Amino acid sequence: MVDVTTDPFESMLHENRHFPPSPEFVAQANASLELYAQAQGDRMAFWDEQAGRLHWDKRWTTTLDWSGAPFAKWFVDGRINVAVNCVDRHVADGFGDQVAIHFEGEPGDTRAITYQQLQDEVCQAANALAALGVVAGDRVAIYLPMIPEAVIAMLACARLGAPHSVVFGGFSAEALRSRIDDAAAKVVITADGGYRRGSAFPLKPAVDEAVAAAPTVEHVLVVRRTGGDVVWTDKDVWWHEAVGGASTTHDPEFFDSEHPLFILYTSGTTGKPKGILHTTGGYLTQAAYTHHMVFDHKPGADVYWCTADVGWITGHSYIVYGPLANRATQVMYEGTPDTPHKGRWWEIVEKYRVTILYTAPTAIRTFAKWGREFPGQFDLTSLRLLGSVGEPINPAAWMWYRSVIGGDNCPIVDTWWQTETGAIMISPLPGVTHTKPGSAMDPLPGISAKVVDDDGNQIERSEAGYLILDEPWPAMLRGIWGDDERYVEQYWSRWPQVYFAGDGAKYDREGHIWLLGRVDDVMNVSGHRISTAEVESALVSHAAVAEAAVVGANDDTTGQAIVAFVILRENADISPDTVENIRSHVGTEIGSIAKPKRVMVVKELPKTRSGKIMRRLLRDVAENRDLGDTSTLADPAVMALISSGLATATDTD
Ligand code: WTA
Repeated sequence: MVDVTTDPFESMLHENRHFPPSPEFVAQANASLELYAQAQGDRMAFWDEQAGRLHWDKRWTTTLDWSGAPFAKWFVDGRINVAVNCVDRHVADGFGDQVAIHFEGEPGDTRAITYQQLQDEVCQAANALAALGVVAGDRVAIYLPMIPEAVIAMLACARLGAPHSVVFGGFSAEALRSRIDDAAAKVVITADGGYRRGSAFPLKPAVDEAVAAAPTVEHVLVVRRTGGDVVWTDKDVWWHEAVGGASTTHDPEFFDSEHPLFILYTSGTTGKPKGILHTTGGYLTQAAYTHHMVFDHKPGADVYWCTADVGWITGHSYIVYGPLANRATQVMYEGTPDTPHKGRWWEIVEKYRVTILYTAPTAIRTFAKWGREFPGQFDLTSLRLLGSVGEPINPAAWMWYRSVIGGDNCPIVDTWWQTETGAIMISPLPGVTHTKPGSAMDPLPGISAKVVDDDGNQIERSEAGYLILDEPWPAMLRGIWGDDERYVEQYWSRWPQVYFAGDGAKYDREGHIWLLGRVDDVMNVSGHRISTAEVESALVSHAAVAEAAVVGANDDTTGQAIVAFVILRENADISPDTVENIRSHVGTEIGSIAKPKRVMVVKELPKTRSGKIMRRLLRDVAENRDLGDTSTLADPAVMALISSGLATATDTD
């Protein structure tokens, strides 16, 4: 059997396999080669045409206003309502009976929600929020498990023009509090709990803790999912009472194309997460366009399943906004892939006859490790297209995905994009591109991406450099919430008028793009972005920790794993309990996804003479490699001290 979990990049230089689309796929594909020429010929006319996929109450006058660069305005003066586009217009077009969401709860409970029912519930939720005092412009925090109410809540906010800030349900009370605070959210929508790994977990206690310290919150709307006990406060309102009792009709207001749609926090290179701001018309245009072209989606015929959580950008753009704008029928699954058995996902594919599956390399590598016998027990022949997102996919994992899941019969789209880009930027076009295992291939029509050197010059083929975007795009972030300066500094300051994505990339001999991972201090663990600074600041907030340095070490399954080096305070006792306690502390501060896989107690950290921590050397230790060049260390003896580490704790969860 091939080992798909080896170093992601080792074989990519020698990767010469090409997979052209089958003639049958080409014959029915949404995309065509002409799209590239069309977009190149007149980029603005191209985007005008894409915006025409949507229903506008008033058409825009100017496609793009870039005069205030790097602050963009797309589809200037246009007026639009996102919820009307994602729900009402499909009902008005006669598709009220089409299933929008096949929900599959982890315990096995199911719900099929038609577009008509979705419209009713979105209107009810909008009315309930309005009754709680939410008006256009107010921020609403959403902290929910993967249940349909998450989608309904987002659409209800969009309907009211109240930007939502979805906080991943795995984040801690403190992470939730800081996000509520930063956005000054007025309402929080949550649930008593959800189901994961075969049991119910509580969500409400974290909200109670966060809200107690967040004075802007006036009301908390609580979905009953598990029926578990909850402590009730005077701010709490049950969803089933407030929403269930509200009217199913709601007159939508149409908002300016640049009206804020949502804020989504993501890790940057500092300890403070950034509130990435997305607006309305441009975002929805690119989400709908990419969902149509990249997934070759056929409304009414396909059954689409994106396995992301709504708490991440992938869930925003490819569970909620793109698919629903395109009248998709989709699967939404609440739980983990191995509950109650390791074939759960494939059972779901068989059950709903899923045709399009969009998931992450970490999941693919995990399934490959478990073995082909699990997918092998189910009929996966309904699948016709596979997607990947979140991290580089190594060629061996790509080939496993293609053959074991796709039966050698499905185009694979490896899609590169970011929370900041809002929608897919680099990807094969199914039916057009001759894919290569491990490569995201080319910028989509309408998008300009390049690989450049330190001076910002486009590099030669077969060389590594930085991935940049040198033309504005409709779904681009419009800023960092409340911090314009940080927006300019973070993304637009390295080269003039150029967006720096933070990723390394290279061209292969044929000029196709290969992503090489982050070049900044952002780690990518199972496709989740976590900054080293964020984890370090959580570590040093523990009473026993004096100093900390964190690195992302290569990991067979999760892409990168968090390894922490800590120096304890003099009075702290060095016991496995202390170290385990430090690990859990990070879970409490940020959430369990940020818990270091390993914590190593050391006496010193390797620093340059100017005091900068040499993470490269720590990475060598974390990856059990011989040390690289240590000549710039202030104290060369320090590495011997580190390697003989005093105590470590390793994740066993
Ligand atoms: C990485 C997720 C290689 C990249 C949509 C990027 C990828 C970061 C790919 C954004 C891919 C995402 N190939 N790397 N196909 N897709 N990445 O904001 O490092 O959670 O900068 O958005 O994930 O992560 P984010």
